[in-house]
Amino acid sequence: MIDSPASIPFASNDAFREIFQSMSEGIIMVDESGKIILSNPVAEILFGYGKNELNGLTMECLLPERYQGHHSHLRAGFNAHPEPRRMGVGRDLTALRKDGSEFPVEISLSYTRLQDQLLIMAFVSDISQRKKSEEALKRSEEQLIVYAAELEKKVQMRTEALNSSIQELEDEVKERKKAEEEAHKALEKERELNELKSKFVSIASHEFRTPLSTILSSTSLINQYNDLGDPDKVKKHVLRIKNSVNHLTSILNDFLSLGKLEEGKIDLQVDYFSPREFLDEVKEELKSILKSGQNIHIECQATSSMVYSDTRILRNIFFNLVSNASKYSGAEQNIYLSCSHDKKNISFKIRDEGIGIPFSDQKHMFERFFRASNADQIQGTGLGLNIVKRYTELLRGTITFTSECGKGTTFILEIPIE
Ligand SMILES: Nc1ncnc2c1ncn2[C@@H]1O[C@H](COP(=O)(O)OP(=O)(O)OP(=O)(O)O)[C@@H](O)[C@H]1O
Ligand SMILES: [Mg+2]
Repeated sequence: MIDSPASIPFASNDAFREIFQSMSEGIIMVDESGKIILSNPVAEILFGYGKNELNGLTMECLLPERYQGHHSHLRAGFNAHPEPRRMGVGRDLTALRKDGSEFPVEISLSYTRLQDQLLIMAFVSDISQRKKSEEALKRSEEQLIVYAAELEKKVQMRTEALNSSIQELEDEVKERKKAEEEAHKALEKERELNELKSKFVSIASHEFRTPLSTILSSTSLINQYNDLGDPDKVKKHVLRIKNSVNHLTSILNDFLSLGKLEEGKIDLQVDYFSPREFLDEVKEELKSILKSGQNIHIECQATSSMVYSDTRILRNIFFNLVSNASKYSGAEQNIYLSCSHDKKNISFKIRDEGIGIPFSDQKHMFERFFRASNADQIQGTGLGLNIVKRYTELLRGTITFTSECGKGTTFILEIPIE
């Protein structure tokens, strides 16, 4: 019967004792009933017992009370299938000192059979230190997580603050840009108006000279012919004066229109009108400016008797285009006006058989003051088509043309009528 250190045959062996006593782990040997048969000094120190004080106690004395009941089951399980293994894998094991204090342990179990009796050996390590380090590590990890979260929050706050300042800055830049653009536009407009004014002065001094000197010479001639009693000659010179005044008026009108367009002062006055009647009126009004032998032919394919647009502006457009057609054609060369429409647009064509426009000049045709290279012997300011283009845009229409030198020109005007 093995029930005390003295009954263990090898316990008296010097080498065994040497090893047993000097092991760094606590070793406790119990029998099947859980009674402690042998323990080494380290075990006694760990559990706070004096020399040999553990021998004869039951294993359960070394456990906190709350584990004691369950432990006998575990022991019975081990006794039935003994094998070397660690105890309490996945659980924290706690041991009880003699003074009632507790400490964390790690325990490995082994066994031996001696004289048919099962002896179980428990190797016990105090892991307080390790636990402390683990807990400290865990605490610093937790602190680290808290710190990281705080840091993230701070970064987020700063980013938000930065974003909103960037947004404010962007808005400011946008506003400044807008103000700059507006100032630039105003300046550009002023520059254009100034250019127009100075151009007007130079054109006026140039273009006004001929009609004014015609008027001057005609008036003195009228005086002379009056004295001579030649009424036909007087009539002729009165007509010359009339034409010169008309010419001056048309130049002034052009400038006036441009000024109004420039300042955006022209309002649309749309109403229903008959295209056929409109063209007849244009023909009638412009008869007087045609050269001798020139005729206006109208071909109107407009099926609807009424369309919707601003005739006052259309009349201005026609006045410019038809006077060009006449001016840049010879006597006897005819002018053709035609019109057709669908549900959305009315399309007018103004065709002449005159001098045409040189191909290289065609892309500049609607530029202000531009005059084609074959027109320098014919009076003009180069404003008419620019005004036409702007009027057309006001009506949301388009104007294009085809032309061939020496054969003639056709302007095509497309105006929405809805
Ligand atoms: N039907 C046309 N046939 C040939 N050339 C034309 C015709 N219409 C315009 N042009 C050319 O286009 C130029 C610009 O025409 P625009 O009507 O703008 O000015 P203008 O007739 O010279 O002067 P104004 O301001 O008195 O009308 C003309 O100088 C002329 O060279
Ligand atoms: Mg013209």
